[in-house]
Amino acid sequence: MEKEIVLSGIRPTGFLHLGNYFGAMRNYVRMQDEYNCYFFVANWHSLTTHPDTKTLQESVLRVVAENIACGLDPEKVSLYVQSDVPEIAELYLYLNMLAYKGELEKTTSFKDKVRMQPENVNAGLLTYPVLQAADILIHRAVKVPVGKDQEQNLEMARNFAERFNHRYGETFPLPYAFNYNSELVKIMGLDGNGKMSKSENQMTTLFLADEDEMIRKKVMKAKTDQGPLTPNSVKPDYIQNLFTLMGLVSTADTVKKFEDDFSNSTEGNCIIRYGDMKKQLAEDMVNFINPIRSKAADLQNNKELLFKIIHQGADKARASASATLTIVRNAVGMNY
Ligand code: ADP
Ligand code: TRP
Repeated sequence: MEKEIVLSGIRPTGFLHLGNYFGAMRNYVRMQDEYNCYFFVANWHSLTTHPDTKTLQESVLRVVAENIACGLDPEKVSLYVQSDVPEIAELYLYLNMLAYKGELEKTTSFKDKVRMQPENVNAGLLTYPVLQAADILIHRAVKVPVGKDQEQNLEMARNFAERFNHRYGETFPLPYAFNYNSELVKIMGLDGNGKMSKSENQMTTLFLADEDEMIRKKVMKAKTDQGPLTPNSVKPDYIQNLFTLMGLVSTADTVKKFEDDFSNSTEGNCIIRYGDMKKQLAEDMVNFINPIRSKAADLQNNKELLFKIIHQGADKARASASATLTIVRNAVGMNY
């Protein structure tokens, strides 16, 4: 049986963090044996918000290195850079004719970005979901491992694919967001506010490139409170987030101990010690991030190897992309 096609992308707009790892990259690594995988660095997308390209190449290579350090095997998957596959831009053009200004203006990420950069509301920002749909449909991918924040973009990709199929004949299968657990993951910042993000508060985001001491410092500063007031109380978001992180990097026994301490705590008899919990979390986090950081650093010192990897990835991606584009051109009638 043919393997199902998987695709995902990450923007090179900064250092990768735990949200990227648990929302996206961990799934990439698990999917590489079972599926026919395409993973890429979305450098065109980054131009919508980061028009200054002075550090772009370095960021692109770092994203590639960090993905490999997390366990992606460039021999098994196609690991490439978006701008090396010009076929995507042509598909983007066709899809743009099927996307409406009104629906693009309504997306939450567009509205957020208009608020963040009112001086630069460019057309690329508006059509960001169209380019993302082209990224996915160019390989006729069906599974897209991403975090919860990408659900709306995936819904739009399905709409554009359906519209194309309806107008020009059945061409694209419909793509869906994918996570091994039934729920898509969202890692919040260490202050419990918003998601961990490349561009937001640096002190509340744990980066895969953070030094051990920095990791300890950030975890110890994470927001807590005086402890639960009644047994088995509902956890506030920021406390739940510490447990979520612990669930991801600590042993089951450790998590259980702190869960029990939390459940048994009451006003006047607080058993859970958030200071101890954060110390334990910090050490487990250091043990988790340290090997990824050093492997990524080694790779970044070997630019020649990184270039070889992305060129090989682009060759694989272009073979698949040009096959799709032939089908698309025939469907639209652009085959002279
Ligand atoms: P950022 O928002 O930090 O710029 P991207 O938008 O480039 O990150 O996201 C790359 C991938 O990481 C996407 O699949 C996205 O869903 C996932 N991701 C980003 N932040 C988080 C988070 N805090 N929790 C879960 N997944 C996340
Ligand atoms: N928009 C995605 C993000 O911000 C990045 C991305 C671009 C992407 N193209 C994609 C993700 C295609 C999945 C599939 O995270």
